[in-house]
Amino acid sequence: MSVQSLLSYALTVPDLKAGQCFYSTFGLDPAERDGVLTFRCDGRDQDQVFLVEGKKKRLNHLNFGSDDKGIAAIRGRMQQRGLAEIDAQHNVFGGGLWLQDPDGHPINVRPEGPRPWRPAPAFTINSPGHYQRTGERGAPHRHTARPHRLGHVLLHTPNLDRMVAFYTEVLGMRLSDRVPGIIVFMHLPTGGDHHVVALLADTRPGFHHASFEVASPDEIGLGAQKVLGSGYRNGWGFGRHVLGSNFFHYLRDPWGSLAEYFCDIDQIPADGSWKAEDHGPEDSLYLWGPAVPEDFGANFEEA
Ligand SMILES: [Fe+2]
Repeated sequence: MSVQSLLSYALTVPDLKAGQCFYSTFGLDPAERDGVLTFRCDGRDQDQVFLVEGKKKRLNHLNFGSDDKGIAAIRGRMQQRGLAEIDAQHNVFGGGLWLQDPDGHPINVRPEGPRPWRPAPAFTINSPGHYQRTGERGAPHRHTARPHRLGHVLLHTPNLDRMVAFYTEVLGMRLSDRVPGIIVFMHLPTGGDHHVVALLADTRPGFHHASFEVASPDEIGLGAQKVLGSGYRNGWGFGRHVLGSNFFHYLRDPWGSLAEYFCDIDQIPADGSWKAEDHGPEDSLYLWGPAVPEDFGANFEEA
Protein backbone atom coordinates (compact mmCIF):
# COMPACT_ATOMS: atom_id res chain seq x y z
CA MET A 1 0.00 0.00 0.00
CA SER A 2 2.49 2.53 -1.19
CA VAL A 3 4.04 4.22 -4.16
CA GLN A 4 4.99 1.58 -6.73
CA SER A 5 7.16 3.44 -9.24
CA LEU A 6 8.96 6.72 -9.81
CA LEU A 7 7.32 8.02 -13.00
CA SER A 8 8.94 11.41 -13.52
CA TYR A 9 10.43 14.52 -11.97
CA ALA A 10 9.93 18.17 -12.84
CA LEU A 11 12.37 21.02 -12.42
CA THR A 12 11.59 24.71 -12.46
CA VAL A 13 14.38 26.36 -14.46
CA PRO A 14 15.12 29.92 -15.61
CA ASP A 15 15.96 28.96 -19.21
CA LEU A 16 13.93 26.30 -21.03
CA LYS A 17 16.10 26.45 -24.18
CA ALA A 18 19.23 25.63 -22.17
CA GLY A 19 17.35 22.72 -20.60
CA GLN A 20 16.16 21.40 -23.96
CA CYS A 21 19.70 21.51 -25.30
CA PHE A 22 21.18 19.69 -22.27
CA TYR A 23 18.66 16.86 -21.99
CA SER A 24 18.59 16.34 -25.78
CA THR A 25 22.38 16.08 -25.83
CA PHE A 26 22.10 13.65 -22.89
CA GLY A 27 19.95 11.40 -25.12
CA LEU A 28 16.30 12.13 -24.22
CA ASP A 29 13.59 13.08 -26.73
CA PRO A 30 12.07 16.55 -26.15
CA ALA A 31 8.55 17.84 -26.80
CA GLU A 32 6.50 20.79 -25.58
CA ARG A 33 3.04 20.94 -24.01
CA ASP A 34 1.33 24.14 -22.79
CA GLY A 35 4.67 25.86 -22.33
CA VAL A 36 6.18 22.93 -20.40
CA LEU A 37 9.09 20.96 -21.88
CA THR A 38 8.73 17.19 -21.64
CA PHE A 39 11.36 14.49 -22.23
CA ARG A 40 11.05 10.80 -22.94
CA CYS A 41 13.48 7.91 -22.87
CA ASP A 42 14.14 5.75 -25.89
CA GLY A 43 11.30 3.31 -26.59
CA ARG A 44 9.09 4.52 -23.71
CA ASP A 45 5.72 6.14 -24.29
CA GLN A 46 5.86 8.23 -21.11
CA ASP A 47 7.19 11.66 -20.13
CA GLN A 48 9.89 11.22 -17.47
CA VAL A 49 11.33 14.76 -17.17
CA PHE A 50 9.45 18.07 -17.18
CA LEU A 51 10.99 21.55 -17.28
CA VAL A 52 8.81 24.46 -16.18
CA GLU A 53 9.95 28.05 -16.61
CA GLY A 54 10.51 30.00 -13.39
CA LYS A 55 12.87 32.44 -11.71
CA LYS A 56 15.39 30.01 -10.26
CA LYS A 57 16.14 26.36 -10.57
CA ARG A 58 14.50 24.11 -8.03
CA LEU A 59 12.75 20.76 -7.85
CA ASN A 60 9.19 21.44 -9.02
CA HIS A 61 7.84 18.03 -7.93
CA LEU A 62 8.33 14.26 -7.94
CA ASN A 63 5.70 12.06 -9.53
CA PHE A 64 5.10 8.50 -8.30
CA GLY A 65 2.78 5.83 -9.66
CA SER A 66 0.55 3.65 -7.50
CA ASP A 67 -2.96 2.17 -7.67
CA ASP A 68 -6.26 3.27 -6.12
CA LYS A 69 -5.67 1.16 -3.00
CA GLY A 70 -2.17 2.54 -2.56
CA ILE A 71 -3.37 6.12 -2.94
CA ALA A 72 -6.17 5.53 -0.42
CA ALA A 73 -3.63 4.11 2.05
CA ILE A 74 -1.31 7.10 1.60
CA ARG A 75 -4.29 9.44 2.10
CA GLY A 76 -5.14 7.59 5.32
CA ARG A 77 -1.58 7.94 6.64
CA MET A 78 -1.64 11.66 5.73
CA GLN A 79 -4.82 12.10 7.74
CA GLN A 80 -3.31 10.32 10.76
CA ARG A 81 -0.40 12.78 10.64
CA GLY A 82 -2.46 15.88 9.85
CA LEU A 83 -0.83 16.33 6.41
CA ALA A 84 -2.93 18.37 3.98
CA GLU A 85 -3.36 17.84 0.25
CA ILE A 86 -2.09 20.63 -2.01
CA ASP A 87 -3.01 21.88 -5.49
CA ALA A 88 -1.41 20.50 -8.67
CA GLN A 89 1.70 22.44 -9.67
CA HIS A 90 0.59 23.02 -13.29
CA ASN A 91 -2.38 21.93 -15.40
CA VAL A 92 -0.01 19.80 -17.53
CA PHE A 93 0.62 17.53 -14.53
CA GLY A 94 -3.03 16.79 -13.86
CA GLY A 95 -4.69 14.93 -11.07
CA GLY A 96 -4.02 12.26 -8.53
CA LEU A 97 -2.96 12.97 -4.97
CA TRP A 98 -0.75 16.02 -4.30
CA LEU A 99 1.08 16.50 -1.01
CA GLN A 100 4.36 17.95 0.29
CA ASP A 101 7.39 16.28 1.82
CA PRO A 102 8.93 17.83 4.98
CA ASP A 103 11.31 19.95 2.85
CA GLY A 104 8.32 21.42 0.99
CA HIS A 105 8.81 19.53 -2.30
CA PRO A 106 5.45 18.84 -3.95
CA ILE A 107 4.79 15.12 -4.44
CA ASN A 108 2.24 13.72 -6.88
CA VAL A 109 0.95 10.14 -6.63
CA ARG A 110 -1.35 9.00 -9.40
CA PRO A 111 -3.02 5.70 -10.36
CA GLU A 112 -0.65 4.91 -13.18
CA GLY A 113 2.21 2.50 -13.74
CA PRO A 114 5.23 2.58 -15.97
CA ARG A 115 4.09 2.26 -19.59
CA PRO A 116 5.18 -0.69 -21.71
CA TRP A 117 8.60 -0.09 -23.11
CA ARG A 118 11.18 -1.71 -25.29
CA PRO A 119 13.99 -2.97 -23.04
CA ALA A 120 17.56 -2.56 -24.18
CA PRO A 121 19.09 -5.56 -25.95
CA ALA A 122 21.04 -7.76 -23.54
CA PHE A 123 24.66 -6.67 -23.22
CA THR A 124 27.17 -9.45 -23.65
CA ILE A 125 30.93 -9.29 -23.37
CA ASN A 126 33.59 -11.93 -23.65
CA SER A 127 35.41 -12.86 -20.45
CA PRO A 128 38.17 -15.41 -19.84
CA GLY A 129 36.68 -18.83 -20.54
CA HIS A 130 33.29 -17.37 -21.60
CA TYR A 131 33.37 -16.33 -25.25
CA GLN A 132 29.81 -15.44 -26.27
CA ARG A 133 30.56 -12.97 -29.02
CA THR A 134 31.86 -15.18 -31.78
CA GLY A 135 31.87 -14.17 -35.43
CA GLU A 136 31.38 -10.51 -34.46
CA ARG A 137 33.94 -7.83 -35.21
CA GLY A 138 34.63 -4.75 -33.09
CA ALA A 139 32.77 -2.82 -30.41
CA PRO A 140 28.98 -2.37 -30.51
CA HIS A 141 28.16 0.24 -33.17
CA ARG A 142 26.31 2.92 -31.27
CA HIS A 143 27.31 6.51 -31.44
CA THR A 144 25.37 8.05 -28.60
CA ALA A 145 23.60 7.11 -25.38
CA ARG A 146 19.86 6.52 -25.42
CA PRO A 147 18.64 6.10 -21.83
CA HIS A 148 15.78 3.60 -21.44
CA ARG A 149 14.28 4.79 -18.17
CA LEU A 150 14.50 7.15 -15.24
CA GLY A 151 15.96 5.23 -12.29
CA HIS A 152 16.33 7.47 -9.25
CA VAL A 153 16.76 10.92 -7.79
CA LEU A 154 18.99 12.21 -4.98
CA LEU A 155 17.89 15.21 -2.93
CA HIS A 156 19.81 17.39 -0.48
CA THR A 157 17.99 17.75 2.82
CA PRO A 158 18.44 19.57 6.13
CA ASN A 159 15.84 17.18 7.68
CA LEU A 160 17.31 13.74 6.98
CA ASP A 161 15.36 11.83 9.65
CA ARG A 162 12.03 13.57 8.98
CA MET A 163 12.43 13.08 5.22
CA VAL A 164 13.24 9.36 5.63
CA ALA A 165 10.20 9.01 7.92
CA PHE A 166 7.99 10.69 5.30
CA TYR A 167 9.19 8.60 2.35
CA THR A 168 9.00 5.32 4.30
CA GLU A 169 6.03 5.85 6.63
CA VAL A 170 3.76 8.03 4.45
CA LEU A 171 4.72 6.99 0.89
CA GLY A 172 5.62 3.43 1.93
CA MET A 173 9.15 3.18 0.51
CA ARG A 174 11.71 0.93 2.21
CA LEU A 175 15.19 1.55 3.51
CA SER A 176 17.94 -0.02 1.33
CA ASP A 177 21.16 1.08 3.03
CA ARG A 178 22.47 4.12 4.82
CA VAL A 179 25.61 5.88 5.92
CA PRO A 180 24.27 7.33 9.18
CA GLY A 181 24.07 11.11 9.20
CA ILE A 182 25.28 11.35 5.59
CA ILE A 183 23.16 9.52 3.01
CA VAL A 184 20.10 7.24 2.95
CA PHE A 185 19.01 5.03 0.05
CA MET A 186 15.40 3.85 -0.34
CA HIS A 187 13.70 1.39 -2.69
CA LEU A 188 10.13 0.58 -3.69
CA PRO A 189 8.27 -2.19 -1.83
CA THR A 190 7.57 -3.73 -5.23
CA GLY A 191 11.32 -4.47 -5.42
CA GLY A 192 13.73 -3.49 -8.17
CA ASP A 193 16.53 -0.93 -8.14
CA HIS A 194 18.60 -0.61 -4.94
CA HIS A 195 17.62 3.04 -4.73
CA VAL A 196 14.82 5.08 -6.27
CA VAL A 197 14.94 8.02 -3.87
CA ALA A 198 18.12 8.86 -1.96
CA LEU A 199 18.68 11.67 0.53
CA LEU A 200 21.91 13.51 1.26
CA ALA A 201 22.29 15.45 4.53
CA ASP A 202 22.88 19.15 3.90
CA THR A 203 22.13 22.57 5.35
CA ARG A 204 19.28 23.28 2.91
CA PRO A 205 17.06 21.39 0.45
CA GLY A 206 18.03 20.94 -3.18
CA PHE A 207 17.93 18.63 -6.19
CA HIS A 208 21.30 16.86 -6.51
CA HIS A 209 20.80 14.49 -9.45
CA ALA A 210 18.53 12.25 -11.47
CA SER A 211 19.80 9.01 -12.95
CA PHE A 212 18.93 7.23 -16.19
CA GLU A 213 19.57 3.62 -17.13
CA VAL A 214 21.51 2.77 -20.26
CA ALA A 215 22.34 -0.64 -21.70
CA SER A 216 26.02 -0.98 -20.91
CA PRO A 217 29.25 0.62 -19.68
CA ASP A 218 29.97 1.32 -23.38
CA GLU A 219 26.84 3.41 -23.61
CA ILE A 220 27.80 5.34 -20.48
CA GLY A 221 31.14 6.13 -22.14
CA LEU A 222 29.52 7.17 -25.41
CA GLY A 223 26.97 9.37 -23.65
CA ALA A 224 29.52 11.10 -21.43
CA GLN A 225 31.81 11.65 -24.40
CA LYS A 226 29.01 13.36 -26.33
CA VAL A 227 27.83 15.54 -23.41
CA LEU A 228 31.38 16.61 -22.53
CA GLY A 229 32.23 17.14 -26.21
CA SER A 230 29.24 19.48 -26.45
CA GLY A 231 30.78 21.77 -23.86
CA TYR A 232 29.01 20.66 -20.66
CA ARG A 233 30.94 20.27 -17.41
CA ASN A 234 31.97 16.93 -16.03
CA GLY A 235 30.28 15.89 -12.78
CA TRP A 236 32.14 12.71 -11.89
CA GLY A 237 32.93 9.43 -13.56
CA PHE A 238 33.40 6.92 -15.03
CA GLY A 239 33.30 4.65 -12.00
CA ARG A 240 31.42 2.11 -9.92
CA HIS A 241 29.52 2.83 -6.72
CA VAL A 242 29.67 0.64 -3.61
CA LEU A 243 26.04 0.94 -2.42
CA GLY A 244 23.83 -0.10 -5.33
CA SER A 245 27.06 -1.08 -7.11
CA ASN A 246 26.03 0.62 -10.37
CA PHE A 247 28.45 1.91 -12.97
CA PHE A 248 28.08 5.70 -13.15
CA HIS A 249 29.00 8.90 -14.92
CA TYR A 250 27.56 12.25 -13.80
CA LEU A 251 27.29 15.32 -16.04
CA ARG A 252 26.55 18.87 -14.86
CA ASP A 253 23.34 20.41 -16.20
CA PRO A 254 23.20 24.18 -16.93
CA TRP A 255 22.22 24.89 -13.30
CA GLY A 256 24.90 22.90 -11.49
CA SER A 257 22.82 19.84 -10.69
CA LEU A 258 23.60 16.50 -12.30
CA ALA A 259 22.24 13.94 -14.71
CA GLU A 260 23.73 10.47 -14.27
CA TYR A 261 24.01 7.54 -16.65
CA PHE A 262 23.90 4.21 -14.84
CA CYS A 263 23.81 0.49 -15.54
CA ASP A 264 24.06 -2.74 -13.55
CA ILE A 265 22.42 -1.49 -10.35
CA ASP A 266 21.72 -4.05 -7.57
CA GLN A 267 18.18 -5.45 -7.64
CA ILE A 268 16.19 -5.84 -4.41
CA PRO A 269 13.59 -8.64 -4.24
CA ALA A 270 9.93 -7.73 -3.65
CA ASP A 271 9.55 -10.31 -0.84
CA GLY A 272 10.80 -8.03 1.94
CA SER A 273 13.87 -10.20 2.57
CA TRP A 274 16.33 -7.33 1.99
CA LYS A 275 17.88 -6.12 5.23
CA ALA A 276 19.00 -2.50 5.28
CA GLU A 277 22.51 -2.02 6.66
CA ASP A 278 24.51 0.85 8.09
CA HIS A 279 27.81 1.48 6.32
CA GLY A 280 30.88 3.57 6.97
CA PRO A 281 31.51 6.79 5.04
CA GLU A 282 34.07 4.96 2.86
CA ASP A 283 31.16 3.07 1.25
CA SER A 284 29.14 6.19 0.42
CA LEU A 285 30.90 6.95 -2.86
CA TYR A 286 32.81 4.50 -5.01
CA LEU A 287 34.61 1.24 -5.48
CA TRP A 288 36.78 2.62 -8.27
CA GLY A 289 36.90 5.65 -10.53
CA PRO A 290 38.58 9.05 -10.67
CA ALA A 291 39.03 10.99 -7.43
CA VAL A 292 35.78 12.56 -6.24
CA PRO A 293 35.61 16.19 -7.44
CA GLU A 294 35.48 18.64 -4.53
CA ASP A 295 32.12 20.02 -5.63
CA PHE A 296 30.46 16.64 -6.26
CA GLY A 297 28.22 16.83 -3.19
CA ALA A 298 27.73 20.62 -3.38
CA ASN A 299 24.25 22.08 -3.36
CA PHE A 300 24.04 24.62 -6.18
CA GLU A 301 20.43 25.51 -5.46
CA GLU A 302 19.90 29.01 -4.12
CA ALA A 303 18.49 29.19 -0.62
FE1 LIG B 1 22.77 8.16 -8.63
